[in-house]
Amino acid sequence: MTAPAREQWATRAGFLLAAIGSAIGLGNIWRFPYVAYENGGGAFLVPYLVALLSAGIPLLIFEYTIGHKFRGSPPLAFRRMARAAEPIGWWQVAISFVIAVYYAVIIAWAMRYVGFSVGQQWGADPETFFFEDFLHIAEQPGFAAPFVPGVLWPLIAVWAVTLIVLALGVRRGIEIASKVFIPLLIVLFVILVVRALFLPGALDGLNAFFSPDWSSITNGKVWVAAYGQIFFSLSVGFGIMVTYASYLRRKADLSGSAMVAGFANSSFEILAGIGVFATLGFMAHQTGVAVSEASTSGPGLAFVAFPTIISELSAGAAWFGILFFTCLVLAGLSSLISIVQVIVSSVQDRTGLARVPAVLIIGGFTAVVSIALFPTRNGLYLLDVADHFINQYGIVLAAFVAVVLVAWVLRKLGVLKLHTDTVSSLKVGPVWVILLGVITPLVLVWMMIDSLRQEFDENYGGYTTSYVLAAGWGVAGAAILFGVLMSLLPWKRAGTPDDEDGTPAVPVTEEAKS
Ligand code: ALA
Repeated sequence: MTAPAREQWATRAGFLLAAIGSAIGLGNIWRFPYVAYENGGGAFLVPYLVALLSAGIPLLIFEYTIGHKFRGSPPLAFRRMARAAEPIGWWQVAISFVIAVYYAVIIAWAMRYVGFSVGQQWGADPETFFFEDFLHIAEQPGFAAPFVPGVLWPLIAVWAVTLIVLALGVRRGIEIASKVFIPLLIVLFVILVVRALFLPGALDGLNAFFSPDWSSITNGKVWVAAYGQIFFSLSVGFGIMVTYASYLRRKADLSGSAMVAGFANSSFEILAGIGVFATLGFMAHQTGVAVSEASTSGPGLAFVAFPTIISELSAGAAWFGILFFTCLVLAGLSSLISIVQVIVSSVQDRTGLARVPAVLIIGGFTAVVSIALFPTRNGLYLLDVADHFINQYGIVLAAFVAVVLVAWVLRKLGVLKLHTDTVSSLKVGPVWVILLGVITPLVLVWMMIDSLRQEFDENYGGYTTSYVLAAGWGVAGAAILFGVLMSLLPWKRAGTPDDEDGTPAVPVTEEAKS
């Protein structure tokens, strides 16, 4: 049996928009503004840019190169590089699975809030509305809990859209969706930010956001925050960029594309900071609460602070809300699609399943787990703990292990550099090898130690030890275990990496390969 030809992007713009769509997500809109503000405001831009240039873009190039050279989803690409590297690929699949199951529910909330914006259905107390009337949150964190129908049906809609796009394939699904979602997102977001800039008090918000606290530059925690933001925001460490680059043609400008995607993502992030803080300045102006008090992130920003602000608007409140929550939906969906594609394409590469059955079986399974766990009265607790642990001990740790293994154990950075420099317009040179081989692992290990120290100081979020062990450490540990176990199963087919046109992943047996 000959394997089906590997899909390809129709255009470079299509690949870039998909990569940018993956990067621009909830992290840009609700995480960056607060992280920047808390860590020195304008001065934070220095560590942030250093993190982007010293680790973010080098890691993007690293992942693009692995995907492009070895033509596969993470398990296949890492396996083709070296048998010992395969567990990293499966580990990234597990990380993507965990993130996908909870990320989808946030998009579902945002979808509902598009509707709630009409007539500001959250009423006079958006906080009580969000936690009690909408999420019906349980008093105590737990696992099994009754469903919340108001979250269940939008979540089913989110999964339906995601699976339909994936079933249509790379070109007709992901590429076309990205070509529609991303320009639309940018236009809507710019309208929102311009509107926010004309609100009374907007300038005070911007002053608070940008006033530099230069003393923060010498604080190690600020640097940890900058690198952490860059990793999550650029979608590195999930295996997404390996997967997306595997659909590029042989001739592809890898380093140039990484620069474009990296800077586009950061530009959007800074724009989000401007929009969010202009809006918080307005809230401070209206309510007399200082910007420092009003600033927050995550669900508190999107589903409590923003509704409060929207209700304060005398004109166009509904439109402001619709725009904001539609932007969250678009940004989230394009990221979710990329995350689930990692899982689907890995299963395809591993089993030889065609795209549609793979989407139905494994994409469907991911959707069912998401739908079973998160639109419940416990959903928010589970999401909070799983998100924290899979980011710290999934994404960051997997990126560290991948870089150390490839650079120091397998010593493949030179081969990867040669590949990038051969196909790209911009040569990465020895600087890339030094950044990736030395700077990035040092930063990652430093981040790891810092977060472990906090973990042992007190339980994350004040949850009980058993809950943190099960929903946090358990999930992060299970992802590693899954990676190792999957790589122990023998492959019947594992194509050769050097197919000139990137198509036939010729089935070869274990014996033939050795
Ligand atoms: N990079 C995506 C985000 O920022 C996952 O949300």
